[in-house]
Amino acid sequence: MVDYSVHGQVAVLEVNNPPVNAFSHNVRVGLDRSIDKAIKDTNVKAIVICGKGRTFPAGADIREFDQPHKEPSLTLVFEKLEKTTKPVVAAIHGTCLGGGLECALFCHYRIAQKTARVGFPEVQIGILPGAAGTQRLPRLTGLHVAMDMITSGRHIFAPEALKYGIIDEMFTGDVINAGIKFAKSVMNKPLEDRCLMNKTVKDADQADQIADEFMSLVKRKYKGFEAPIDCVKAVKASATLPYREGLKMESRLMQKLLLSGQSAAQRYAFFSERAVSRWKMPGGNFQTAKPLPIKSTAVIGAGTMGTGIAVCLLNAGYQVYLLEQNQKFLENGVKTIRGIIEGSVRLGKTPMAVAQKAATLLKPTMKYEDLADVDLVIEAVYENLSLKREIFSKLDKLCKPTTLLCSNTSSLDIDRIGTATKRGDKVAGMHFFAPAYYMRLLENIYSTQTSPTTAATIMDVGRKIGKVSVLVKSCQGFLANRMRGPFAVEAYFLLEEGSTPQEVDSVMENLGMPMGPFKTGDLSGLDIGYKIQTELAKSKGVELSVDSKFLMGERISTLTRTMYDNGRLGRKTGKGWYRYEKPGGKLATPDEEEILERLMYSCINEGFKILEEGVAATPEDIDISWIYGFSWPKYLGGPMYYANRIGLDKIYQRICYYHENFPYSSHWIPSRLLLKLSENKVPMSQWCSGTDSKL
Ligand code: CAA
Repeated sequence: MVDYSVHGQVAVLEVNNPPVNAFSHNVRVGLDRSIDKAIKDTNVKAIVICGKGRTFPAGADIREFDQPHKEPSLTLVFEKLEKTTKPVVAAIHGTCLGGGLECALFCHYRIAQKTARVGFPEVQIGILPGAAGTQRLPRLTGLHVAMDMITSGRHIFAPEALKYGIIDEMFTGDVINAGIKFAKSVMNKPLEDRCLMNKTVKDADQADQIADEFMSLVKRKYKGFEAPIDCVKAVKASATLPYREGLKMESRLMQKLLLSGQSAAQRYAFFSERAVSRWKMPGGNFQTAKPLPIKSTAVIGAGTMGTGIAVCLLNAGYQVYLLEQNQKFLENGVKTIRGIIEGSVRLGKTPMAVAQKAATLLKPTMKYEDLADVDLVIEAVYENLSLKREIFSKLDKLCKPTTLLCSNTSSLDIDRIGTATKRGDKVAGMHFFAPAYYMRLLENIYSTQTSPTTAATIMDVGRKIGKVSVLVKSCQGFLANRMRGPFAVEAYFLLEEGSTPQEVDSVMENLGMPMGPFKTGDLSGLDIGYKIQTELAKSKGVELSVDSKFLMGERISTLTRTMYDNGRLGRKTGKGWYRYEKPGGKLATPDEEEILERLMYSCINEGFKILEEGVAATPEDIDISWIYGFSWPKYLGGPMYYANRIGLDKIYQRICYYHENFPYSSHWIPSRLLLKLSENKVPMSQWCSGTDSKL
């Protein structure tokens, strides 16, 4: 777990715990022993700590957080480093995060490769840097930088770390050699001044002002999250309390956060985000299927979605042909893309070099022939099946045989798009969420014909463009929008029954969503729902009238049409739900519990059906889709995680209750899988598609 070697007078302690050298119990024990050994060895005059393989330790072992704590603690081990009279050098490469950075802050010196990153990401899993990080970083950087890094969890590259004094020097080349060389250069220098515990915080006199500034920032920016608030309190303590007292405060806050439900949910989200990359589908999985190389791409349609998708591809270094049907649309699209990238450079989110390269990679065109040699096409025209089929048929004839043809459709059946071509195995869905350059979810969809190689390739592209990609089977609405469907429908029904948009929205906002369904509707445009409803009716051969309350025996809301007919399309027309006067309906206003249940339990029920049908393979796929597609608060883990917390028995009972009361809404028909899981008390770790056949 820790490889020990002596090179002349320098002991090298190399943490060896792949993949990220986390400080698991064995590593703590190993490090503790190695430090003792190096201290005792009279030939050793300096110590280097580093990580084997790809990285310096990336923090504590998060998987151990749910187990009883085993000594020695990180702080106990690290304190030996600072106390020794032999200089200790942290030689950093890869990602030096959390407990890893804390380890480095107990060392007397820190040097890093130029490409290395350091940071305290603990806040993202609902805790704080609890091995003295909140007390030590401010002693090095001052309060402002420490507050920023610890409350945001952002990683910074070595040059920025050097600027703040977090590292003493940057190096290139081999880590161990650089560590030894540096250690030799400081071998006989005095160490008192190198012990952070002896230092004071340089801007301590402004502690109140800086803490107030960050407190209001985190309350606004991370509304509902507990950890950022406690991070501010702990960092402030570094300036207002003596070191040991500050440590006690940090430890109290850490214990509180560790026990909070939020941290458990955020840790679940952390592992789920990684779990969804281990996709599987009939005939293959992430291990058996290899992605094809993709260099050049094309996006068809330069509207909101098309331009957003193009930005994602360009920023990741792909060549992008942007195709539109006329010069004006094309020019507007190019202008939009430039605007998004320039805005991102101004905000410091995109480096200038990336933006300059992106400009050379964009190839606007009106000729389909230009797409003949691209490796991947993403079609992003409006939701119309016959139009999409026409485009795919044309692409099939024109593109080289290996080109993958994907659609950004949010709901249309990929099988029906694929049959317009002779290469169904190379046709798939790549559903981006608006704004595509910002939202992190990418829903990749396979049809009955899509090959695992195609799936592997689009999952790989998703990763390369920085998305969290989830793979699902094609069905009406796929995972995300299908499961979100009842949410929107129930919200409308609640209005018809006497609630106000504000009431419904505030219930969901109090739960932690950034916006309720009506504010979200106003934002995305209320015409979308109307168009989907009419398209659906059309596909079933039904003509809807103004007062149609049913479609094929299913209750539908008349409000969709009313809003559309009145031009209340949301923000874009300046009026939507939020200019409606409070309806003076006679129906009793449903209480908050009912709003929450009807919006969430209906979706959860759909989620279990999605699992039951194998549309999604695991509850993690579903939860991650909500976290990154609909900004579901990470501290609640995701709707399936939330359902597990509430208890499947209760959820199932309430779903039956609503089914009895609303027999015309099929989304209330209780999921068979949900019933079986709740009857058999199956733990969440075992929920997955196919579980029900075993029960
Ligand atoms: N503990 C346990 N497992 C971890 C881990 C950790 N700290 N960090 C990563 N892993 C696991 C991942 O779950 C993943 O496992 P699977 O392959 O089984 O899914 C594997 O290591 C590789 O991780 P990634 O796929 O994320 O690899 P990457 O190269 O894309 O990213 C990384 C590497 C930047 C280090 C990223 O994994 C990461 O951000 N890790 C979390 C870092 C963190 O939060 N550190 C603080 C821990 S808490 C702490 O240290 C408390 C304290 O103050 C004492």
